[in-house]
Amino acid sequence: MTRLVHTRGDLASALANNSRVLIPTMGALHLGHKSLVESAKAYAANHDGALVVMSIFVNPLQFQDSHDLEVYPRDLVTDSALATEWGVDVIWAPSEADIYGGDAPVSQERLQTLLTGSQTADILEGASRPGHFLGVLTAVSCLFDAVRPQAACFGEKDFQQLVLVRMLASSLVPNVEILAVPTSRDEWGMARSSRLGRLDEGGLSKARVIPTALAAGVEAARDGSNAAGVKAAVLGELDAKPAVRPEYVEVVDDACLPINAVGPARIVLAAQVDGVRIIDNQPIDLKAI
Ligand code: PAF
Repeated sequence: MTRLVHTRGDLASALANNSRVLIPTMGALHLGHKSLVESAKAYAANHDGALVVMSIFVNPLQFQDSHDLEVYPRDLVTDSALATEWGVDVIWAPSEADIYGGDAPVSQERLQTLLTGSQTADILEGASRPGHFLGVLTAVSCLFDAVRPQAACFGEKDFQQLVLVRMLASSLVPNVEILAVPTSRDEWGMARSSRLGRLDEGGLSKARVIPTALAAGVEAARDGSNAAGVKAAVLGELDAKPAVRPEYVEVVDDACLPINAVGPARIVLAAQVDGVRIIDNQPIDLKAI
C-alpha cells in the first residue's frame, strides 16, 4: 500500500526503521520517472526490501525565472495515482516549510565552496541558469537529511546535475549511494521530460531533430572523429533545422568538463524549440584527440 505524507513527522513514522531508496522529483510525473521507480525497486529487491520513497517538491530555489516557477505543473492527485500504480511505497510531498524550515543540514557556504571548486557548476547549464545548481544541491541535501536514504536515483538526462549530486554525496553526505538511471526515450528517441508537455505537435516534430543530431555525433565518434568533429556533426544536423536553436553543444568527460583526451565521453546539448528549452546527452567513446 502506498502512503502519502506531508510533514517530516509523518514521514518519519512511515519510514520507521526500514532502509530506503529515494527518488527525488518535482512531480509532473511521466514515463521517465517510471524508469527511476523501476531502478529503485530493483535496488530495494536486492537490499532487504528497502522502502521506495518518492519526494515531490517543486523547489523554488532552482528556478531563475519566477514565471517558470509559477507555471510549473503541480497535480498531486495525478502524481500520487501514478506513483501508486508504479509501486512506490511512500510519497513525501512536503511544503516549503517542511523542507527548509529547520536548520540547514549543509550550509550554503559549504555547498557554494563545493560548486566553485568543481569547475563544472558554472558552465553549460550553470552558465545559462546562474544559481540553479546551488538551488538543486540545497534541496537535495535537505531531502537526504529528512529521508536518510541508503541510495537515491537520479536520471542521466540531467547529466551535469548527476555529476554535481555525486560530488555532494562523496564529499558531504558519504552514506548515500547515487544510482544513475539511463535516459528513458520515446519512440522518436526524445528524452522524456515534463517540458516536452509544453510543446504542441508542431513543436514536437521540430524537436525530433535533437535525437537525430545526437545520433550523428555518436556515429562520428564511432567513425574516429575527435571532440571537434563530433560537435560539428551534431551542429550540422541542428543547423539544418533553424526552428531548433542550439544553446550549447559540448563533448565532456565524467566530470562534465570539456574533454581533451581519448576514452569515454558524453555529448551534451541544450536547445530552444518554440520557447521550450530542451537538454539531452549521449555517451560516446572518443578514439581521436
Ligand atoms: O531533477 C529534479 O527533478 C530536481 O532537480 C531535483 C533533483 C528533484 C531537486 O529539486
